[in-house]
Amino acid sequence: MKNNTAWWLRITVAFFLVVILMEVYIDSGDKPAFLAYPTMMFGFMALILLLLIAIAFIVQAIENVLYNTLDEEAKVRFLAAKEEKWEWTWGKNLYNKMLGSKPMEKEVEIILDHNYDGIRELDNKLPPWWVYLFYASIVFAVVYLARFHVFNDYTQDEEYEQEVAIAQLEIEEYKKTAKGLVDANTVELLTDASDLNAGKIIFESNCVACHMADGGGGIGPNLTDRNWILGGGIKNVFQTISEGGRDGKGMIAWKQSLKPVEIAQVASYVLTFEGTTAANPKAAEGDIWVDPNAPEPATPAKETNTEQVIDSTSVTMN
Ligand code: HEC
Repeated sequence: MKNNTAWWLRITVAFFLVVILMEVYIDSGDKPAFLAYPTMMFGFMALILLLLIAIAFIVQAIENVLYNTLDEEAKVRFLAAKEEKWEWTWGKNLYNKMLGSKPMEKEVEIILDHNYDGIRELDNKLPPWWVYLFYASIVFAVVYLARFHVFNDYTQDEEYEQEVAIAQLEIEEYKKTAKGLVDANTVELLTDASDLNAGKIIFESNCVACHMADGGGGIGPNLTDRNWILGGGIKNVFQTISEGGRDGKGMIAWKQSLKPVEIAQVASYVLTFEGTTAANPKAAEGDIWVDPNAPEPATPAKETNTEQVIDSTSVTMN
């Protein structure tokens, strides 16, 4: 028996194989099986480990028994075989074959006649690994040519479109989980009570000095009416809060001190004022704002529909 890899190495390898197999076959949702069922998994693993150790002992015992039944000469042979170093002969042979180089002592066979001031040349064959790669590339080229130039499977443009579409979906998916990514183009009106409460807190600590707690207005305009100086709707309001009002009016750009998600929250909160009655309302300023995207029958053509027709190549991540 040549295979005398250390017994503990065999046990470790087998153990990890079992662990990997369990990960693969146990359906534990997103979490690794380990975290999903910790006690069960650890118990099972301890059992496996015990079993493996037991098997190692049994094999050892059998070997001992067999050894003792051998005669002296066979014992010596057995020990010698055991001492022999294990080598991965198959891999080693393959490696040498692929290299295809002649051993030094056989170089006389391939040495060429000419002699340049004592420098001589060997006529080596091309190394087989290189030759096989070359053949493989020929096969690849034939298949490729047939698939894309004869049968016109799909074009690069189509492949690009597909990948962009997939990426687009992934971005959408990502944006759903990453609230902090919103900007004036992507922001949606938030309606969750938690978001509105957060918006209220931000409003009360930053904005009431000029807009009043009920949005009635003071230094800043009335936020409870339908009139907007800088445009209504979540996107415009987000934009105003983020970038500030017209120069010199007193409304600063809040993007310095508020995170995008906070701006979205406070903007959504601001929009809840509309239609409420403030205790001391400031006169309306600006125009009554009509949402161009609202599904009103009055808008005849689609041209006012500014609904995101984003060029897939200009998606920015910020
Ligand atoms: C220093 C006073 C001041 C503070 C503080 C202030 N604003 Fe303003 N706000 C103004 C003024 C003045 C305008 C009008 C800007 C203009 O006319 O260009 C305005 C405009 C606005 C508008 C646009 C109104 C419209 O009719 O278009 C919104 C929305 C708004 N503020 C929200 C906020 C929010 C939210 C906060 C707190 C994060 C805030 N403001 C803090 C002074 C203030």
